[in-house]
Amino acid sequence: MPIITFLESDGQEHVVDAKAGLSVMAAAVRNNVPGIDADCGGACACATCHVYIDNAWVEATGRPSDQEASMLEFADDVRPTSRLSCQISLSPALDGMIVRLPEEKA
Ligand code: FES
Repeated sequence: MPIITFLESDGQEHVVDAKAGLSVMAAAVRNNVPGIDADCGGACACATCHVYIDNAWVEATGRPSDQEASMLEFADDVRPTSRLSCQISLSPALDGMIVRLPEEKA
């Protein structure tokens, strides 16, 4: 718990039973979810952990910090639901959350 569903841009689904307290990024990396490089290891310094939070879950994840918001400017195809997944800590309140992965660039 919580259960998080990662959706690739082609619709492929990865359902992860994550540990509360982990970041969304760590839950993805530990479960071999593709598309999250997390080059800086979760220090909010690279933007390679960019994801889109499903609309229904945006409020539950809170707002990005100023540091996250400025780092997000380095991500591609930023949308209103964009977040850096290393900056979202998993809690039981996020059980069932859907996280969409950006389209992978070749
Ligand atoms: Fe680098 Fe999230 S892992 S900003």
